[in-house]
Amino acid sequence: MPAIDIFAHSISFLKDHLWKTLHSRVCEVLETDIHYVITVPAIWDPKAKQFMRRAAYKAGIPNEQISFALEPEAASLWCQVETDDKLSRLSEPLTKYMVVDLGGGTADITVHQKMGDGSLKEIHKASGGAWGGNEVDKCYLQLLENIVQAEAMDKFKREEMSDYFDLLREFETKKRSITRDNEGKITIKLPQSLCRLAELDGIKMAAKIERLHDTTKYCWTGDKLRIEKVAAKALFTPPLEKLITHVKKMFEQPEIQDIEAILLVGGFSECDLVTETFEQSFPDKRLLIPKDAGLAVLKGAVRFGHHLYAFKTRIARFTIGAEKWRLFEESHDDPARKIIMSGQEYCTCIFKKIIEIGEEIPAAMTHVEKSHPACASQVQSDIVLFSSTNRHVTYTTDMGCQKLGTFTIDLPKSESISEKKYTICYFFGDTEIHVRVKMKKTNEEFEKWIDCFSTDD
Ligand SMILES: Nc1ncnc2c1ncn2[C@@H]1O[C@H](COP(=O)(O)OP(=O)(O)OP(=O)(O)O)[C@@H](O)[C@H]1O
Ligand SMILES: [Mg+2]
Repeated sequence: MPAIDIFAHSISFLKDHLWKTLHSRVCEVLETDIHYVITVPAIWDPKAKQFMRRAAYKAGIPNEQISFALEPEAASLWCQVETDDKLSRLSEPLTKYMVVDLGGGTADITVHQKMGDGSLKEIHKASGGAWGGNEVDKCYLQLLENIVQAEAMDKFKREEMSDYFDLLREFETKKRSITRDNEGKITIKLPQSLCRLAELDGIKMAAKIERLHDTTKYCWTGDKLRIEKVAAKALFTPPLEKLITHVKKMFEQPEIQDIEAILLVGGFSECDLVTETFEQSFPDKRLLIPKDAGLAVLKGAVRFGHHLYAFKTRIARFTIGAEKWRLFEESHDDPARKIIMSGQEYCTCIFKKIIEIGEEIPAAMTHVEKSHPACASQVQSDIVLFSSTNRHVTYTTDMGCQKLGTFTIDLPKSESISEKKYTICYFFGDTEIHVRVKMKKTNEEFEKWIDCFSTDD
């Protein structure tokens, strides 16, 4: 099934659930009374956010009733009002802290500062990677595959799907009992169907485990796999190593060296091994973990819905520019980009920078441009934005520069260019890139969100 349908169904389920609850407890709530907040990792690109917007729209939520909260921001907002003694220091003016949101799929890291006026400021651009709790599950599945071999594992996933989900659920529970102490064993019951598929080659499970040449770490008793705590803890090493290496690298940067606190949120930060690893890796930083760390993002999202402008500044994650033409300059422009129109030579694919990576962008910042179509017969104008992780970009065809998305502007019917003039106001400081367009002729104003899917060419 297309992913969009799965996401739309999930959002629709949550929406229906909310309505059922509301109908049973409160009367007189209208569809339009509700503003929906969808949380997304801060490291998601505009295309992923647009995908969520489309899925929500498909689930029956109109565009103007949705906002996006960036997950570390939501968590940070929530921790501002937590009454816990340790956390209350986060709300002191000018406090700087790193927020590490550790979920299932992603680790999402940013640095925030509380400002004197009560607002929050992002002081380091969001970064992270796929180093969440799911990586531990992957390591566990890899261990099972080493025991039963790939063929049996593949067949198990395809043919015994409900047992496969049971196996994941069982591990989810067991995972929580893997703590920093090294004593004892973890016992995991494996589904009969998996053992049967594995033993089709005539080799019993016990013998298969012996083949791992690590009988001190793993053994088979009855229908259960027993793993020594030390070996179980090793399943957490790959994501945690990547995460710690990344955070250490961040602390090498001068602008965040003075940060004394790390706020850990997200379900995976409830894991004792994660806490231990952070304590050992950053002994000179204060580690703050709110109660119910796994719910901080959710609770913060509700607060965000009431304070959409709590974050006054964000840091640009890319250099962004619009694709333009300008007069061809014989001395240095590439002849391959030259085109001639009405006898005039132009250079195409010029990257006109609007935002530079690492730049502070006030949430209220707007970039206003007056524009018009190239010829009077045009019924639409396409504004194409490009992005790059390089600071300086000359042409949109430069290495590392890629199409970010398009704004298609419908122009009024007219034979004259001057009647098709418009003003476009970009908002880059919000959680999504959007524009407000005002047509000169009609004074009509409308809002557009960047369309990243038109770039699939
Ligand atoms: N006590 C615990 N010990 C180990 N892992 C845990 C514990 N509690 C939760 N997790 C892990 O945390 C992850 C879920 O965290 P969370 O609910 O924050 O994820 P998410 O927000 O849905 O994912 P993402 O932020 O990646 O979109 C799962 O991988 C789960 O196994
Ligand atoms: Mg999360």
